[in-house]
Amino acid sequence: MIDRATVDKILDAVRIEEVIGDFVSLRKRGANYLGLCPFHQDKNPSMSVSSTKGIFKCFACGKAGNAVSFLMEHEHMTYVEALRYLAKKYHIEIVEKEETAEEIAHRMRYESLLVVTEYAQKFYSDVLWNTEVGKAIGLSYFHERKFSDETIRKFGLGYAASRPLTLCGKALSEGYKKEYLVDAGLCLEREGSGELYDRFFDRVMFPIHSISGRVIAFGGRTLKTDKSVAKYVNSPQSEIYDKSRSLYGIFQAKNSIAKNDKCILVEGYADVISMHQAGVTNVVASSGTSLTVEQIRLIKRFTDKVTIIYDGDAAGIKAALRGIDLVLEEGLSVKVVLLPPEDDPDTFAKSHNLIEIQEYIEENEKDFISFKSDLLLEETERDPIRRAQVIRDIVQSVSMVPDPILRNIYVEMVAEKFEQKPDAIAATVGELRRKKRALDRSRQRFHDAPQVQPPLPDEEPVPLPDEPLMQEVLPVTNSYLAVSERELSYYLVKFGEYPLYFDEDMYYGSDPHEEITVAQYIRNALADDEIVFENDLYRTIFDRYYPFAATLPPGEDCEKRQERVVRYFTTGEDQTLNEAVFGLILEEHPITVKNYEAAITPEAQLLGRTIPKSVLLYKRRITELQCNALTKRIADAQKAGETETVRKLARQLQILTKVKNKISIELKRI
Ligand code: CTP
Ligand code: MN
Repeated sequence: MIDRATVDKILDAVRIEEVIGDFVSLRKRGANYLGLCPFHQDKNPSMSVSSTKGIFKCFACGKAGNAVSFLMEHEHMTYVEALRYLAKKYHIEIVEKEETAEEIAHRMRYESLLVVTEYAQKFYSDVLWNTEVGKAIGLSYFHERKFSDETIRKFGLGYAASRPLTLCGKALSEGYKKEYLVDAGLCLEREGSGELYDRFFDRVMFPIHSISGRVIAFGGRTLKTDKSVAKYVNSPQSEIYDKSRSLYGIFQAKNSIAKNDKCILVEGYADVISMHQAGVTNVVASSGTSLTVEQIRLIKRFTDKVTIIYDGDAAGIKAALRGIDLVLEEGLSVKVVLLPPEDDPDTFAKSHNLIEIQEYIEENEKDFISFKSDLLLEETERDPIRRAQVIRDIVQSVSMVPDPILRNIYVEMVAEKFEQKPDAIAATVGELRRKKRALDRSRQRFHDAPQVQPPLPDEEPVPLPDEPLMQEVLPVTNSYLAVSERELSYYLVKFGEYPLYFDEDMYYGSDPHEEITVAQYIRNALADDEIVFENDLYRTIFDRYYPFAATLPPGEDCEKRQERVVRYFTTGEDQTLNEAVFGLILEEHPITVKNYEAAITPEAQLLGRTIPKSVLLYKRRITELQCNALTKRIADAQKAGETETVRKLARQLQILTKVKNKISIELKRI
């Protein structure tokens, strides 16, 4: 653990042009520096580095960030690794939070487990290359499978023989502790005698690496075709190996994944290795288990595009279908390639050259909508019920996509493909998302400690009617709202700690003469109408803002406080959030209200007007959507002849329209 003061000291010392300059050659251009952007194939220098602001931005690909995020992206460091790197570069001593004896013991135990596992890897590969059995059985098997010596070494493959060439015999004689051999899952203890024996024998060995390249586990494949012998024996879960958080090949593939901005997902060890050998190096495997959220997040550190290549057989298709929603839900885009039914990636890679493989992928890559519809509709073209099921299935997948803009694109695609009205699809997607959100929230509430409640306002200048049905009638998750939510998020991260000065009648707090900050104002104004941001990203910013602001040292001026806010939001471990916030504060033309105002007055001086206006615009957008939805429902009820419902809804619409008008009047006043 690095303590907060040290983190600040490091970030204060950093000169971003020096940090980036170690990787990219920069030229001074005016107040800034310019260089070739390393995050895309840049031909003319389009990355600008501002030493005063401490940030970089590529005008071609849009990548932006500070020194820490540069290192995280470019060198694939974690947040902490990047800080350590910078501390070293600027000769800052890192004050570690003092470790307890327990923590030290834990760290040493962890390290010891890694050490025996790495020892085992060397042992198995030594057997493979340097013993008669190893060469005759293991090596010739790999050669038979057309793995080159280079490939075998690159993946650290080995051979586990049997007596007398046992791992436990050798390891114990060299002083490795029984405890660690057992706990790393390499050896087992015979009941009664306590004698040690190997988990892996008579198998070719595939070491599994962590993202930083340490060996954490093994998969051992039998060479027997005898069905009574398990094809693979894998290391059990241990303190160093969590199957659901590992991906086979991630260490060898990570740079290529980042460079290609794409991760290819296959099923097995052999698939990864053969694809690599053929020159397709951005490949990892989930190793026979179904994909987990943690594995997807691992991929997300390098790219947000996943292509699943599974066997063309039924099992492969089923596995591909299972993966899709999960990948979508994590905000990645997903494509699927099906191989000819007789092939798997391993055989396919061996029977084709690099160009052929790349062409096949390019030509056969389907987005998940086409993949699902082609597959599911195949034999059911004329069955309307089945067709509706398929559409529902696909819409369900669309509703998993967190980004509203991307989601809307998918909605359009589905509508076109199935000749449906986009509105109808969007409404269903909205419905599904609302359900999902409600579920997520109730789950979250269960896990979270209670949040600080915002102070209750004295009066309610723009109340929305609190008829419970109101929540029900808001069916569309709409980019229309996202625009406003983005704007308010922008004000939070850029001016949240600034004081607001304005006419008394615009005030939402308890005492008009007490100073209120932009952030407090926004929170109060939204709490008034129990508004919660729809958009996941902006809601995250909102939810994290206030607990963080509460930790800021009192008495600092607002600019300094705001700097800390920006720092908090741009140097966290959530890279997506970092980038999004950079996007916000670097935004050249943020959005609705700002465009209303002539750009002559400094933005900070206009906050007293722009902030209330922004909040009102947001509320008006919400009521507009609600009005639209209500009108539609009234029409439906009318068609169905439900007069009582029509009456009830019409009454709601009346109230809502009043509210909407009131907001509009209010908006004109400011
Ligand atoms: N797997 C496993 N245990 C098994 C079978 C499979 O752990 N009993 C995992 C392995 O990670 C394997 C992957 O599932 O790599 C895919 O299985 P499969 O296609 O059967 O194995 P391949 O590695 O493709 O083996 P081969 O090509 O040598 O038959
Ligand atoms: Mn295979």
